[in-house]
Amino acid sequence: MHPSREPVDLLIGPAAQVATPRAAERPPAGPQQGRLEVIPGGAVAVRDGRIVAVGPYADLARRYDPAEVLDASGCTVVPGFVDPHTHLCFAGWRAEEFERRLAGASYQEILAAGGGILDTVRRTREASEVELAAALRRRLLEVLRLGTTTVEVKSGYGLTTADELKMLRAIRRAADPADDLDGTWPLGAGAWGPANGPRLRKNRPGATGSGGPGSGSDVDAGDGAGGARLAGGGTAGGGAAAGAGGAAATWAAAGTAHARPTAGTAPPRAAAGAAARAAVPAAGPVAAGPAADRAGGHGDLGSGLVLPEVVATFLGAHAVPPEYRGRPDEYVDRIVEEMLPAVAREGLAEYADVFCEQGVFDLEQTRRIVEAARRLGFRIRLHVDELTPLGGAGLAARVGAVSADHLLHVRDEDIPRLREAGTVATLLPGTAFFLREPYAPARKLIAAGVPVALATDYNPGSHPAGSMPLVMAIACVGMGMTPTEALVASTLGGAWALERAQRLGSLEPGKQADLVVIDAPSYQHLAYRLGTVPVVAVVKGGRVVVA
Ligand code: NIG
Ligand code: FE
Repeated sequence: MHPSREPVDLLIGPAAQVATPRAAERPPAGPQQGRLEVIPGGAVAVRDGRIVAVGPYADLARRYDPAEVLDASGCTVVPGFVDPHTHLCFAGWRAEEFERRLAGASYQEILAAGGGILDTVRRTREASEVELAAALRRRLLEVLRLGTTTVEVKSGYGLTTADELKMLRAIRRAADPADDLDGTWPLGAGAWGPANGPRLRKNRPGATGSGGPGSGSDVDAGDGAGGARLAGGGTAGGGAAAGAGGAAATWAAAGTAHARPTAGTAPPRAAAGAAARAAVPAAGPVAAGPAADRAGGHGDLGSGLVLPEVVATFLGAHAVPPEYRGRPDEYVDRIVEEMLPAVAREGLAEYADVFCEQGVFDLEQTRRIVEAARRLGFRIRLHVDELTPLGGAGLAARVGAVSADHLLHVRDEDIPRLREAGTVATLLPGTAFFLREPYAPARKLIAAGVPVALATDYNPGSHPAGSMPLVMAIACVGMGMTPTEALVASTLGGAWALERAQRLGSLEPGKQADLVVIDAPSYQHLAYRLGTVPVVAVVKGGRVVVA
């Protein structure tokens, strides 16, 4: 070690560019929405899961002595994506409904006839907590590989107290990297976990082998062009360059020592876990309960499993369940009197949400739920003006919602109200695209100074996809946002929408080391390449996942 250089765990760089918004006292809005700092030939230095410096690689290489280097030559480094609106916990897809919609049936007609969301409700009620958790964990890993390092997940396909609690417990368990889901999820060496997909099996000794289990496809040797390389700085297990071996690998850092679970060299779980817990005092990834400290943190470093941070939202008011058909007010009573208190008691969700929509929950019902939720300490985010101009955005502003989501049909008079209330407009243009609805007026919102975040809405009905780069592309082509605005909205904007902007959403000293390395010479490629730009590495809390 060079005596004058400060030791760090990881240096990411040199990169073609490092691009990041800069955090301020308020969420990026208006002209700030389109402002990014771009460092050509940049690098990021990381210690104990946090960023210690961002700047030109030449400077950082002089100042820091890294245990490991993630070479990002030819690549661009951006903050990890923060997706503040998903329905990722569900059982069963709805491909046949897609066909029916294309044949002319509307989303609302299908819901009114007991399909749509209610179809997913039937299947989610049938699933066990562990089944839901395993399906969710696979999707969490899917979105992590697409660059999402923090994701909000809603309940809302249970619609009974027991089934909503089951969903929320599944969300908590899926997000906990130390939970082996009743033995169904191999941790340690098999941490990447079960997934469908082809496996390359060794039939003769000496044949070139594959990587470990569960990487989806293990046959993705790749040519290594433009990919990120992790080079060890003399720490355990860190020497072999991931990517050169071909197989997808998850690198789990325990302190500065790196174990490669797929190679079977992971340290014994208990010991590593204990060491990691000692080193990282932060809590698990789901903040406990409403009004909980939103400090969060990274997961169990001993389990070998790297997951996005998960933020849980209770959405018991997602649809009127069949048992209450025609009696929505009685279902609202049930939410207010039974469900919300039960969720609060177990500390299972930080936010409460309502699908405020014609034929679902009207303004008055939404207001009742919101008031009850606030009394119990929940923070508020709302689905508003998605399919009809009901005036939900005005209500969101009035009740001080953290975020008003969708806004395809936001009324002009409600736009300044959002700005005055400090409510983030979370736009989901992938949903408008998939439902073939008009887009939200992003340009009007930005011109009015309303902070805009982007989200996927990942769910089986209105947007069955979890790619933030795809959403950025649709935001640009469909809503006229610029690639710069779209990236800000997908990182720092999302972090504000989840009240985590002090810790997440930008690459700045002191912030959690959550970042994405894309195989492209500039950040504009995220939107420009229609969501197909390769994510070659993701760093979550300083831990490197090489795709
Ligand atoms: O945000 N609008 C209500 N909820 C989701 C759709 C959920 C579903 O169709 O399963 C949305 O679009
Ligand atoms: Fe939604």
